Amino acid sequence: MAGELTLQDVSLQFGGIKVLQDVSFAVEPNQIFGLVGPNGAGKTSLFNCISGHYRPTAGTVLIDGTEVQGARPATLARHGLARTFQHPALQLHETVLENVLLGAHARLPGGALEWAVRTPRTRRAEKELRAEALDLLERNGLGWAAHLQADELSHGLHKGIELCRALLMKPKLLLLDEPAAGLPHSEVETLIATVRRLRTDDDITVVIVEHHMGLIAALTDRVVVLDHGAKLMEGTAAEAQSDARVIEAYIGKDAADDAA
Ligand SMILES: Nc1ncnc2c1ncn2[C@@H]1O[C@H](COP(=O)(O)OP(=O)(O)O)[C@@H](O)[C@H]1O
Ligand SMILES: [Mg+2]
Repeated sequence: MAGELTLQDVSLQFGGIKVLQDVSFAVEPNQIFGLVGPNGAGKTSLFNCISGHYRPTAGTVLIDGTEVQGARPATLARHGLARTFQHPALQLHETVLENVLLGAHARLPGGALEWAVRTPRTRRAEKELRAEALDLLERNGLGWAAHLQADELSHGLHKGIELCRALLMKPKLLLLDEPAAGLPHSEVETLIATVRRLRTDDDITVVIVEHHMGLIAALTDRVVVLDHGAKLMEGTAAEAQSDARVIEAYIGKDAADDAA
């Protein structure tokens, strides 16, 4: 259980549109790895190819040396993968606690029939899972909200709920898609501390998509920059920030956005 991720020449095409082209990189166990690039570069699509929400058109995705491209998200969860989404999809009329528990039943023992009749074993396992979910909410400053309905909370707190949901899967490899987007500055500092703890206390490998360069610089060991679906460069965050090609990609994008 290490949390190593390797991509070899991952390509993704929809009809004639090339969304990803031969993307290769390796994330070492226990690294915090950044994936950056202008809007539309293909970052979320690449996460989808890793998490089983998209099947790459070509190329290989390995988790701890095992090929997993094309596997379903539930299978990938058993390989230790969990993720959050750029736009959290919560059950807004359920409580925060129920939202954290969504999906976690995959971790429990027993088949569907055993769950339907609720044996003592499933009842005990479910109780333990609820206690774990509450503990995660407490540790992420959301314990007070556990029994509130999700739609009573802010966008920033929705991101926290999603993170707790992902962590309840006990991942060894965690993908975070724009976790700081829309957060006030004070909460970005908290997020940085949280991700650091995931590495040091929980031994999780983290891949993080973010536009917040302060966060990327503070957290990551290494980054890959994507542009138009292809890898533009790989290096430290500082190297990326001073790389002429990267600056050009962002400026070109701003100019195009301004013109639109
Ligand atoms: N399911 C899909 N069908 C068609 N095009 C898609 C699909 N998913 C993503 N794309 C396209 O892939 C490109 C990259 O999008 P995305 O991965 O969301 O970029 P990023 O996360 O870097 O902003 C966009 O042009 C987007 O329209
Ligand atoms: Mg995205």
